[in-house]
Amino acid sequence: MLVNLNDILPRARKHGYAVGAFNTSNLELTQAIIGAAEALKAPVIVATSEKAITYAGIENISSMVMGMAKRARIPVCLHLDHGASYEVCRECMKHGYTSVMIDASHMSLKENVRLTRKVVRYARKRNVSVEAEIGRLAGIEDDLQVSKAEAVYTDPDEAKKFAEETECAALAVAIGTSHGAYKFKGKPKLRIDILKDIARLVRIPLVLHGASGVKPAWINRVNKFGGKLAHARGVPDDLIMQAVRSGIAKINTDTDLRIAFTAGVREYLIKNPKDFDSRKIVGHARDMIKQVVEDRIEVFGFINQA
Ligand code: G3H
Ligand code: 13P
Ligand code: ZN
Repeated sequence: MLVNLNDILPRARKHGYAVGAFNTSNLELTQAIIGAAEALKAPVIVATSEKAITYAGIENISSMVMGMAKRARIPVCLHLDHGASYEVCRECMKHGYTSVMIDASHMSLKENVRLTRKVVRYARKRNVSVEAEIGRLAGIEDDLQVSKAEAVYTDPDEAKKFAEETECAALAVAIGTSHGAYKFKGKPKLRIDILKDIARLVRIPLVLHGASGVKPAWINRVNKFGGKLAHARGVPDDLIMQAVRSGIAKINTDTDLRIAFTAGVREYLIKNPKDFDSRKIVGHARDMIKQVVEDRIEVFGFINQA
């Protein structure tokens, strides 16, 4: 069943769990995401970045995910991740996306409000939900590189004003995570204090980007079969659970799926040097990704919430 964020997130915020948003750009990732959610009776958000759309083609990716979502035994939301413009949000809605993120977090607050409101107005008529972002994460968002020094934590009062003025369905906040596999140099730390202040003032579902766990067991699996992912570090499960208890209702995960895919392909090729059936190679990777999504569903607490 195809749904939007309003069908699944307010309930998550109210009951203290978060729904995972997982990035896809191909068949196997989508099968692994929806397959894991079905196995654990969880609602799920399938996200595509602009780069994923360029890679797969918007007709291909939207019709594939929508077809699988309609046949799924669980609620599935098709969501644009980090949409950079009104035009790309509109294009996705025209292709059946049930949800979009307009990411104007790098603009001034005034411009962010103006653009987000414009997208919300267009989306509302089409029953599409809109996520927006305030504050800036470090790391890479599409082609935009944001250094640690440029990253800005979300200001709770600004977040309240922003949510009221834009009427967005969900709000992404910056509390110390970053995109990618290298999130922390020292001990992982999130500003749960800031998150709690935001959550007191903002009642809509809050979103945590850059939330991959980058677990050592998976990094070791990649490295064991020839990978070189030294010093990779993500957000530990206990910090994720603290964030969920403090108001996070949607958690974005991409890097963990990429790592699992890489581990799967490397392992299969090394262990089966005579094989060249592409379905077996990426099929093995698909099984690895499904394991990771199932782990995330349990940690985020949205198992059996379909
Ligand atoms: O937010 C970033 C996501 O991991 C998307 O990455 O733009 O390389 O598809 P991408
Ligand atoms: P990770 O890089 O931590 O997986 O974050 C993904 C993300 O925030 C997508 O929007
Ligand atoms: Zn993100």
